[in-house]
Amino acid sequence: MTPKVLLDPAIQIGADLAKWLEIGGGQGLRAAISDPAGAIPTVAEAGLRGMGGAGFPTARKWEMLAAQEGADKVIVCNGNEDEPGTFKDRHLLEHTPHAVVEGGLIAAVATGANQIYFYINPHHTKGLAAMRRAVEQWLVHDLLQSAQAAIGKSIRLSVVESSGLYIGGEETAVISTIEGGFPFPRKKPPFPAQSGVFGAPTVINNVETLANLPHILRRGAAWYRGLGLGEAVGTKLYSLSGDVLRPGLYELPMGTSLHDLVFVHGGGMLSGKEFKAVFTGGPSNTLLTKKDLDVALDFDSVRARNSRLGTGAMIVISEGTSIVRKIVEYMEFFANGSCGQCPPCKSGTYQMSRILGRIDAGDGAEGDLAALENLCRILPGCGRCALIDGAVTVVESSLSTFRGEYISQLRSRD
Ligand SMILES: Cc1cc2nc3c(=O)[nH]c(=O)nc-3n(C[C@H](O)[C@H](O)[C@H](O)COP(=O)(O)O)c2cc1C
Repeated sequence: MTPKVLLDPAIQIGADLAKWLEIGGGQGLRAAISDPAGAIPTVAEAGLRGMGGAGFPTARKWEMLAAQEGADKVIVCNGNEDEPGTFKDRHLLEHTPHAVVEGGLIAAVATGANQIYFYINPHHTKGLAAMRRAVEQWLVHDLLQSAQAAIGKSIRLSVVESSGLYIGGEETAVISTIEGGFPFPRKKPPFPAQSGVFGAPTVINNVETLANLPHILRRGAAWYRGLGLGEAVGTKLYSLSGDVLRPGLYELPMGTSLHDLVFVHGGGMLSGKEFKAVFTGGPSNTLLTKKDLDVALDFDSVRARNSRLGTGAMIVISEGTSIVRKIVEYMEFFANGSCGQCPPCKSGTYQMSRILGRIDAGDGAEGDLAALENLCRILPGCGRCALIDGAVTVVESSLSTFRGEYISQLRSRD
């Protein structure tokens, strides 16, 4: 039986700080306060990686921020979560908001940051309300004063609403939004750790990343590492959806196999359906198929299959579901979600969406597959952010894995 950390029923208490402290909350922050210099090494030793998509080691990001000079440094908690199939952060914001706030404070103590923004998607109304209530309680609690004393700075906590747009979750778009602008991603460098919100060095961490911190600081790196399977560390929230019997949010050891997630925890496929493929980490990665059911769902093992764990979203589809139709849906999402700032991204996603739509409708032309392949060759790296790269990856992957379906769709017009 997996020990639950983030989804432990005992901590799903909503925004009641007294209760959070009663059940062991606050101890992680106290540990960081008593030894601020030890916090980053503990997080490094735990092997915590970013849960917002890229899986970048959290301690490495923090080291860059800690090394920056200057009075103002910023931590942003990224709670935009708008990708199809991902529904983990909204749960944490609503049900364990104090773990998220405490995680932000631990990050501030570890890096010397004096501003923390909880950047929340306004469509997650319950999570937003719970975070507002949670922050109000921390603002008048002694523990905040102790954290301030530990770094010799007063720490400002604020809850800000994102635009609710998908692109608003990209880290430099997060910065633009907090500064009051449209969520346009920015060119890098400078990287946020050099110049972020209003020019101050900034670290952006996902909600799930921050929510792990109170537990790691309280119980130690070895405890956290021991939760994972094999080389993997900790637990992971997997958002399981699609043609499975029991879709939902699962917290399992990092490194649980795709087979076990779908067939043991998810109860298997809907009656009469057979597993065909899974969109991993949302719709912007390489598809995994039957031959990948044995893959361990952790950052490195999924990477070794040329895909990405991403946010841990797993959208399962069954035989009989048209892959072309699914890709059309996702490409419409990307075309609508492109901010329009980089012409290759705006016109490339629109063009791919048009071509895919006509193939799906049975109106495809002979040269359409070659046109899609050409776009997949020229578009990667053409945008300021990774939106276009994700859109290309899923098209390319579907074309190489399920080419036969595209061809029979083209032939269906005859
Ligand atoms: C188009 C786009 C949308 C993104 N949306 C989110 C989001 O909603 N939440 C999130 O945490 N990260 C999102 N990311 C990833 C962030 O840019 C960033 O890597 C992440 O917040 C860092 O946190 P972490 O290191 O804890 O994973 C998005 C990236 C892209 C390219």
